[in-house]
Order: sequence, then C-alpha cells, then structure tokens
Amino acid sequence: MMKNTSRVQPDPALMPVAQRRRFGGAALAAAFSLFALSIAWHEAHGPAARSTDEMPITQAHADAAAQASDGQATLAGPSAHGELVKRGQYLTRVADCAACHTADKSRPFAGGLPISTPFGTIVTPNITPDPDTGIGQWSDADFMRAMHEGVGKGGERLYPAFPYTAYTRVTDQDVLAIRAYLNTLAPIHYTPPANDLRFPFNQRWLMVFWNLFNFTEGRFVPDPKQSAEWNRGAYLVEGLAHCEECHTPRNFMQGLKSSARFSGAVQAGWHAFNITSDKTSGVGDWRDDQLVAYLSTGAAPGRANAAGPMGEVVANSTQYLTPVDLRSIVAFLRSVPAVSGGDARSRDQWGRPADDVTAMRGTTITGVNGAQLFIANCATCHSWTGEGVGASAPGAYPSLIHNSTVGANDANNLALVILHGVNRTTAHADVLMPAFGGHLDDEQIAAITNYVTKQFGDPQATITTGQVAKLRTLQ
Ligand code: HEC
Ligand code: HEC
Ligand code: HEC
Repeated sequence: MMKNTSRVQPDPALMPVAQRRRFGGAALAAAFSLFALSIAWHEAHGPAARSTDEMPITQAHADAAAQASDGQATLAGPSAHGELVKRGQYLTRVADCAACHTADKSRPFAGGLPISTPFGTIVTPNITPDPDTGIGQWSDADFMRAMHEGVGKGGERLYPAFPYTAYTRVTDQDVLAIRAYLNTLAPIHYTPPANDLRFPFNQRWLMVFWNLFNFTEGRFVPDPKQSAEWNRGAYLVEGLAHCEECHTPRNFMQGLKSSARFSGAVQAGWHAFNITSDKTSGVGDWRDDQLVAYLSTGAAPGRANAAGPMGEVVANSTQYLTPVDLRSIVAFLRSVPAVSGGDARSRDQWGRPADDVTAMRGTTITGVNGAQLFIANCATCHSWTGEGVGASAPGAYPSLIHNSTVGANDANNLALVILHGVNRTTAHADVLMPAFGGHLDDEQIAAITNYVTKQFGDPQATITTGQVAKLRTLQ
C-alpha cells in the first residue's frame, strides 16, 4: 500500500528513456516549475477532489474486411464495410465514447458534457461527422493521432480528461473501425460551450510536461508468457475499456499512480472500489460468474449492485460485451496484484437483518430518526429487515445485507445512491430505485445513511449532514 497519496515526487525512473533524452535539461527545469506551480495550487486549495501485434482473440473479431482494408477502411466493398462498421460499433461501446460525448440523448456523440477536474471544467467536443462543429473534416490520420497521442487536428494538446492515455494502447485497426462507425452517425450541428479552466491550466502546451511524466505512448504489447485470454483481457481493460480512469488512484498531477493500480479512487464523490485480486479489500474472493454477472447485468446478488458511474458503464458498455470478452476481462482482473486497503472484513460481508422495529413500537420518536425514515422510505422495497424482495431475480429489490455499497468503509456511495437513486437499463432488466434527493433534506439523508451502515453495513462508516450537502453539489 502506498501511504503518501498527494505529495509523491515524480520518479524519473518511470520516464521513458527516449523522452528524457529528447527534452533535455531545459525542459526538465520548465517541468519542475510547473510542478512547483501545481504544488502551490495544491497547497492553496487542499487535496484534489477525492475524488503491431494483434492478439489471437482480437483476430477472431477482426473480420476479413478490416484486414483487407489495411487502413483504407472506407474503400472496402459494401458488405465488408458493413462488417467493419459493426465491429466499430462494438468497439465504440467497449470504449464507452458515449459516456462522455453524449450529454443529451437527443444529440448522441455531439458532446457538451461538462467534466469537473481540480483545474476547472472541461466540456466534451462534438465527435459526430458534422464538418463545421464535429470531426467531419478530420482525416483518419488526424483521428488516429488524437486517440494515440492526445493531439488535436490543429496540433494542439488535448487534456487527459479524454482518456488517450488508455486509448494509446488500441491497435490501428481497432481505431480505424471506431472511426468507420463514427462516420456513419448522423452529423449534428452543435458547438458545445467552451472550457472553463484556470490559468495556467488553460495553456494546452503545458500538457507536454504532463505527458512527460504521466503518459507513455504506444500500442498494447501482448505478453507471450500469458494466455490469449489474459492478453485479450489486458488489452480491453488497460485500453479500450479504460477501467483505470476510475479505479486507479491519481498523483497530485492527476496522473494515474502506477504503484497502486486498480486499488480504488474517488471521483465526483463516488468511490470506484478496489478491484485488485486482494481477497478482503478487492474482488479476489468473488467467483468468476459473479464478476461476469456484475459486468453484464449490473447485479451480483450477495456481493454488489452497480449504481452511479458504474451503473452507466454497465448500461452503456459492458452489457454489450461478448461472453468471450467478459471472461477475458475476468481472467485479467484475477492477475492484478493485490493491494490491501487495510480492511479487516470485505465490503460485502457485513450486516444482519434488522430486529429493531418491534422495539420502536409504542415509543415516541422525536427529531430526525434514521430507523423511522428507513421504514417510511426504504422498507417497501428493501423490507424492514433489510433483506430485500425478490432475491436474485432480474430487477429484484436487493438485500442491503452483503452489499458492497452498504458495507464499504466510507458511506459516500450509499448517500449518493439515496440522493440520486439507481437507474440502469440493460437487456436483463430495467432497474429503477427512486431518487430521494428531491424530498429528503441533508440531515434526513445522513440519518438514513447512518442507520443503514450501522444496521446492515460497517458501523464505523458514518456521514455528517455537511458531507451530504457537499455530495449533493457534485455532478
Ligand atoms: C472519460 C471521458 C471521455 C471518453 C470516455 C471519451 N472522450 Fe473523447 N474527449 C473527452 C474530452 C474531455 C475531450 C476534450 C479534450 C480537450 O478539450 O482537450 C475529448 C476529445 C476528443 C476528441 C478531440 C475532438 C476535438 O474536437 O478536438 C476526439 C476525436 C475524441 N474525444 C474521440 C473520442 C472517442 C472516439 C472516444 C471513444 C473511443 C472517446 N473520445 C471517449 C472525453 C472523453
Ligand atoms: C466512470 C467510472 C468507472 C469506470 C470507467 C469503471 N468503473 Fe467499476 N466502479 C465504479 C464505481 C463508482 C463503482 C462503485 C459502484 C457502486 O457503489 O454501486 C464501481 C464498481 C465496480 C465493481 C464492483 C466492486 C464492488 O466491490 O462492489 C467492479 C467489479 C468494477 N467496478 C469493475 C470495473 C471494470 C472491469 C471496469 C472496466 C471495464 C470498470 N469497473 C470501469 C466506477 C467505474
Ligand atoms: C421503489 C423501490 C425502492 C425504494 C423505495 C428504495 N430502493 Fe433501494 N434499490 C431499489 C432497486 C431496484 C435497486 C437496484 C437493484 C439493482 O441494482 O439491481 C436498489 C438499490 C439499492 C442499494 C444498492 C446500491 C448499490 O450500488 O449497490 C442500496 C444501498 C439501496 N437501494 C438503499 C436504499 C435506501 C436507503 C432507500 C430509502 C432511502 C431505498 N433504497 C429505497 C429499489 C428501491
């Protein structure tokens, strides 16, 4: 476990040798001035929001069209082209481009989603083929350069809120298939609002220095010592599916901390849990079929349900994955080195059915009372005992006992679930828990949260009214 999360000095050993040579001393001096600036900013504002070679299985997916086209995707014959577009759609879902580039369902891929970063707000651009406001005038080479190097059409540096740090691993062939699919979208004429970044972070060229320390350009290199399945999983998880963007903690420059990969991180209030192979803090104890069920349906009864950003990942992306790809992801996750968060008990191993309702009968309750609020607002679906209704049927009202969100050692996700509800549509089920943010105030939500963690989760995980108020303001 790394202990120092916010003030890690950049380790020159982590920099690719070629880059170190190319930039030389002057650039390094400049880079360190940038660090000094970031540190100063960091001190002033407190910690950042807690926030090739194709592999065999890829080849199985790569149809003749993509191979014959050899980079000239759009020149292939009509049926080959259809296959390429279909593959591109699949890959676009795996990469979840829509999560960030669709802000409004009536304007798919036209951008406009504000993404908050510790440095200000970045708004996603329009990536429909509209020639004026989208990427209709981009060549395939421009597109490839954006995905692999994080450089825009005019040569400008893109911000890493666009996960080119992960997409750089995606093969040329797969990038071109995504491009072929995007070309078939309806062009939408729409210019998203401008970014709102503070100086000096509005200076795109500074990303040269950020990249120097936080970005290694290059395609995925299969590990010949591992199975084809593992390699496919690694390719998906580290590349297209960019799982680390949420699950790996960040250093003070907001780069991924390579020493604690997949060990969990907080973004916009949500805790993307530790998914390393650690048996207590991670998912090392989950069975393969539970991980597959979670990714394909969003529910692994007795373990976890997917709400918030992960609910969206499941609905937009992982529910569409083929069984082969899902199994590959699981095979890879199994091999992620365990990182312990120091937990004595797994998130999903807490709780006992409530037995306090009879005790409450006849007593006069004054003030805000978590148990009473729970009975009034939650018990119809989750039962007053907390054991849920419908067991593990699709769309069941889950048990709050042995649920990772309830048993987590911080109560953020639970409070966010109560504030925003759960809304996840998959082929498996339309899952809907109402949002309570509209008619319960911060004090009431804190009271229910504390009742639920005490009764069904980790009793040490408590939340204050002030913390709920803060979570409410996050997107
Ligand atoms: C996690 C959010 C996120 C995801 C996922 C994402 N993008 Fe983006 N993308 C952004 C942001 C933010 C920018 C703007 C960066 C900037 O202004 O420097 C961007 C910029 C771009 C650009 C540059 C456009 C321009 O006008 O300069 C392209 C092209 C692009 N994304 C394509 C994609 C594709 C294709 C996918 C899926 C494979 C994808 N993005 C997935 C957030 C995302
Ligand atoms: C946009 C951010 C985001 C991305 C991308 C993301 N996750 Fe998650 N993930 C989360 C959050 C947040 C949770 C907690 C959800 C909750 O409390 O309901 C979570 C939960 C999980 C869990 C359940 C852990 C537990 O103990 O409950 C697994 C497994 C998981 N993610 C795997 C993945 C994999 C594999 C990928 C890549 C394919 C991925 N995630 C991509 C945010 C993300
Ligand atoms: C109308 C029925 C309904 C009500 C009322 C309701 N829930 Fe839920 N709850 C659901 C459904 C449906 C899910 C999602 C199941 C799934 O993910 O498959 C859910 C999920 C949850 C989860 C798991 C989230 C996760 O990420 O693992 C928690 C915790 C929870 N509810 C707590 C509450 C609390 C506390 C209340 C009262 C404030 C409440 N629920 C009220 C139906 C309800």
